[in-house]
Amino acid sequence: MKQVNKKLLPPLLIVDDERNMRISLSNILTSDGYNVIAVESAEDGLKQLERQDFFMILTDVRLGGMTGMEFLKYVRKRWQHIPVLVITAYATPRQAVDAIKCGAEDYLAKPFEPEELIHAIYRCAEKYSLIKENTAWREQEVYSFTLEQIIGDSPQMQELKKLIEMVAPTDTTVLILGESGTGKELIAGAIHYLSKRKDNNYVRINCAAIPEYLLESELFGHEKGAFTGALKQKPGRVEEADGGTIFLDEIGDMSRSLQAKLLRFLENGTFTRVGGNEELKVDVRLIAATNKDIIEAIRQENFREDLYHRLNVIQFSPPPLRERGNDIILLAEHFLSHYSKVMGKNITGFTQEAKEKLLSHHWPGNVRELRNVVERAVILEDGNLIKKTSLPDFHLEARLRKTPFPVISNDKSLDELVEDFERNIIMTSLEQNKYNLSRAADQLKITRHALRYRINRLGIKVEDDGEEKTEDVK
Ligand SMILES: Nc1ncnc2c1ncn2[C@@H]1O[C@H](COP(=O)(O)OP(=O)(O)OP(=O)(O)O)[C@@H](O)[C@H]1O
Ligand SMILES: [Mg+2]
Repeated sequence: MKQVNKKLLPPLLIVDDERNMRISLSNILTSDGYNVIAVESAEDGLKQLERQDFFMILTDVRLGGMTGMEFLKYVRKRWQHIPVLVITAYATPRQAVDAIKCGAEDYLAKPFEPEELIHAIYRCAEKYSLIKENTAWREQEVYSFTLEQIIGDSPQMQELKKLIEMVAPTDTTVLILGESGTGKELIAGAIHYLSKRKDNNYVRINCAAIPEYLLESELFGHEKGAFTGALKQKPGRVEEADGGTIFLDEIGDMSRSLQAKLLRFLENGTFTRVGGNEELKVDVRLIAATNKDIIEAIRQENFREDLYHRLNVIQFSPPPLRERGNDIILLAEHFLSHYSKVMGKNITGFTQEAKEKLLSHHWPGNVRELRNVVERAVILEDGNLIKKTSLPDFHLEARLRKTPFPVISNDKSLDELVEDFERNIIMTSLEQNKYNLSRAADQLKITRHALRYRINRLGIKVEDDGEEKTEDVK
């Protein structure tokens, strides 16, 4: 096996509640060339895992809160490919056996020598690199998408599902435009699996995840010697998708020159491999998606207008979650039952207050954000219902929201757009002033009464703060 290049590995996650242990483990491994992130609890570990890729996890079995073993079991279900090395306490063989049974890669019994640690870590690094190589970019998940997976009863979602059923059996090109986390991938998958192409390949390419100079060869293949590193001929993924569907995700990130080639491909299914002369032809249906404002990209000349028209035969625009009303609760309950099962907890629903909190949030990260919020709540919750306090402080998170200017769309009138803008300004001011109406009113140079009026008119929900309560009593 070839040497592992530690610089190319994602970081290593250390979970240990003893500060000194964290420091000494981090020191040893950092000086051995690894990138290390150390946290003090399993809960924090899960947050890190949600955020980024790790090549392995080193965790103590004894942790406050969620134990090392619970953590291990959970990681095994959710991130199967990440090796976990467990530190067992004081030579207790039982723990070591349990850890291995639960899927730990190996264990280290305290006390251990730095060499033992370094060895064990290196073995995990090797394992990670091997797995990565084998699955590189080609994660052929044995997975099928269905309409039932798309949760939602709101009129918009019912409409959307009807459209999927109508469009799927045809061969038309589909363009899916929607904010991040609105379910574009689910829609694309459902279209393929409901089409007559379902028994052929469904090939997915994320245009933003592949370096620009490699994307063309990924898509259309290359001949031997086409560029440095092209050691042998490689067929394109469009060939793999012959007879099936290709899903180009994040198409807004594709370079203009490749857009031209894609356009030609869409006209008649022909293409040439990079460095090749022969014209090849396949029968592929294309689905494209982006969360970028494509009209703006056309205006900025980053996206070809002719390609847009060619792609835009049928357009899907999954609505942002905040516009789906009670779907928020349906989805939350769906994720709740999933995560409580995975984590072996018996949580049956949400308290009324928690529901209200979910309904009043703006959901900039849409369904993905909701899923993460519910997952976190399931970890934190110790009762049978998710309480409001197990949900994040959305006021703080709302500051990440960045919609400085409303997006002009065909279905909104000028008045509605102006309202969106006004709502944004007022909500930002409220956040900046910690929901103190008097201060927000001062900032916006209107009276408190006028601000109240606008808040009501715009349907902004304000959780009563101390100031509000005292005033309401008066
Ligand atoms: N209607 C839905 N029902 C159930 N799960 C959903 C729904 N919409 C989205 N999800 C889930 O939310 C997560 C995000 O969805 P998805 O990956 O399809 O979003 P996306 O629109 O492709 O986002 P991005 O633009 O960031 O790639 C996924 O885990 C997906 O399964
Ligand atoms: Mg996506």
